Amino acid sequence: MKMKNFQTFIAAIALVLVLGVFTSCQQAGGNQTGSEFIPDMAHSVAYEANVLTNYSLNTWDEESVKSRWDLSQPGTPVAGTVPRGYAAIGSYDLTFASAEDAILKTAESMKKNKARTNYRPNGHVPYFYPDTEEGRTAATEKIIYNPFPVTDEALANGKELYTIYCAICHGDKGDGDGYIVSGPQSKYLAQPANFTDDQFVNSSNGRFYHAIMYGKNVMGSHADKLSFEERWDVIHYIRSLQAKARKVKYNSEVNELNPDYGLPYAQIKEQLEALDSEGHEAVGEHSEDDTQDEQGHEGGGQSH
Ligand code: HEC
Repeated sequence: MKMKNFQTFIAAIALVLVLGVFTSCQQAGGNQTGSEFIPDMAHSVAYEANVLTNYSLNTWDEESVKSRWDLSQPGTPVAGTVPRGYAAIGSYDLTFASAEDAILKTAESMKKNKARTNYRPNGHVPYFYPDTEEGRTAATEKIIYNPFPVTDEALANGKELYTIYCAICHGDKGDGDGYIVSGPQSKYLAQPANFTDDQFVNSSNGRFYHAIMYGKNVMGSHADKLSFEERWDVIHYIRSLQAKARKVKYNSEVNELNPDYGLPYAQIKEQLEALDSEGHEAVGEHSEDDTQDEQGHEGGGQSH
């Protein structure tokens, strides 16, 4: 090929490419949805799995009878599955037979699910108690035990979160004397609960869990601030503040406050370790496990 012809050839290809780029962007209209060239800079990818953007359904704004809010809510989970990000706990309604049962069942089902779906069990857990006084009473009566043992880590984590989210009102010591009521410019009218009062020391964990989920009167919900495990860490920490006020111990070794409301790690360590080593052998034997699950589970929260 001569030089001149070659140049014409290149120019022709360039022209075709340029025209191609211009004509490949089509306008939407009629039955034509249109197409865009490199659209991902104009429309961000939704970073939450259940969020529907205008982009994912071109016309729903006109056609859908559901609100945008409804559409972005997660659907009802398929029976017998654990939605991604949910903690897999041993009892879907958070009720257990004993403090020990709560921890072992939770550890067991978290372990099972972790082996299968490999998510961090720090998400949400369905909460069935309604935001009413009856709901509060039911939660206080039924949610008795903390599904996690008292560990140094849980207390440290609980302290950090309590200091961020609760101390401003309930006080660093849990005595209801936070900065918002006792600070120099304080005008806060409501009295935050004093956790060192008998009624809170003697109350089961459900009362605290329920308050975190829904708040109470002027206190707002903190459900979206704390994950499932974090809520229970905060409750452990509140128990340790109560213990401090009573000059008794509440730590990973001993609980002199109320044995039902927090089981020290040292007292359940062996069972948890046994469960752990069992788990190592059990990985790879899923099919056997699965059949047991299908027969034995009442349809709450386990994944298959
Ligand atoms: C903005 C201030 C504020 C913050 C922040 C706050 N609370 Fe409260 N809380 C209150 C007030 C006020 C009450 C008393 C409500 C009432 O009885 O009317 C209360 C009540 C409670 C109660 C008692 C509920 C009952 O059953 O009587 C618990 C438990 C509780 N809060 C836990 C927490 C925890 C845990 C946090 C942090 C995650 C927190 N609160 C953050 C203001 C706050």
